[in-house]
Amino acid sequence: MEVIYPGSFDPVTNGHLDIIERCSKKFGRVTVAVLNNNAKNTLFTVEERKDMLKEVVRKYNNVEVDSFSGLLIDYAKEKGIFTVVRGLRVISDFEYEMQMSLINKKLCKDIETIMMVSDSRYSFLSSSVVKEIAEFGGDISCLVPKNVEKELVKKIKRR
Ligand code: PNS
Repeated sequence: MEVIYPGSFDPVTNGHLDIIERCSKKFGRVTVAVLNNNAKNTLFTVEERKDMLKEVVRKYNNVEVDSFSGLLIDYAKEKGIFTVVRGLRVISDFEYEMQMSLINKKLCKDIETIMMVSDSRYSFLSSSVVKEIAEFGGDISCLVPKNVEKELVKKIKRR
């Protein structure tokens, strides 16, 4: 089975990576799809986000990194992959994920969303939290892969 794992990945965290690794074991092929949407104010460009992801998923031979703009269902149709995976960290994630899943289903009846429960080690972790800690010089080494830590420090110094 092929799945799409969509997100902003601004930047990818160890929580995202855990989901990617588990997907790569459970599914035949995983497409990590980075949202390229100008309306979302991201710290990293879509190319930077993709490059960081590519480096960390290189070890999985069934995982590819791509980007999309516009609606997820249009991307799914274009790729011919109709299963979407989303990570669920805490119950408060559920409402938004449920809404997204139902909207996507309304727009395209063939789309299925699989929600994968995040490992409890990462239930507090988000890209926003990582960016905030990095902004104030905190230690993010246990929250993101090495290359992401390097890029974050570089980016924040430049601002
Ligand atoms: O990592 P995120 O920001 O929680 O990911 C959200 C994402 C990219 C999966 C979602 O915003 C999305 O699919 N955006 C594309 C636009 C779309 O299809 N919207 C309709 C469903 S709400």
